[in-house]
Amino acid sequence: MPKIVFLPNQEHCPEGAVVEAQEGETILDVALRNGIEIEHACEKSCACTTCHCIIREGFDSLAESSELEDDMLDKAWGLEPESRLSCQAKVTDEDLVVEIPRYTINHAREH
Ligand code: FES
Repeated sequence: MPKIVFLPNQEHCPEGAVVEAQEGETILDVALRNGIEIEHACEKSCACTTCHCIIREGFDSLAESSELEDDMLDKAWGLEPESRLSCQAKVTDEDLVVEIPRYTINHAREH
């Protein structure tokens, strides 16, 4: 089974985490199943950017993002070339290293 390493994130997993994923599961679902509460304001329907994650390793193993996802990502705070919306990015058979950005766009506005 592939593993996902979540890098430490102050709010969601201060120590970081290593969890097992099922092929075909989204990164968001794997996180939620393991108590890592990545925000998902639009309930996983690819209509917000709060579930934005950066794939530090294994990015190329993920299926390509859809146009809709790319459009949404353009609005994400702290966009990087290896950014994905975690509710859309499905795990394959490769391990991943995932960073949850410090802020989502909702937070960025508040600070
Ligand atoms: S939860 Fe809104 S796009 Fe992923």
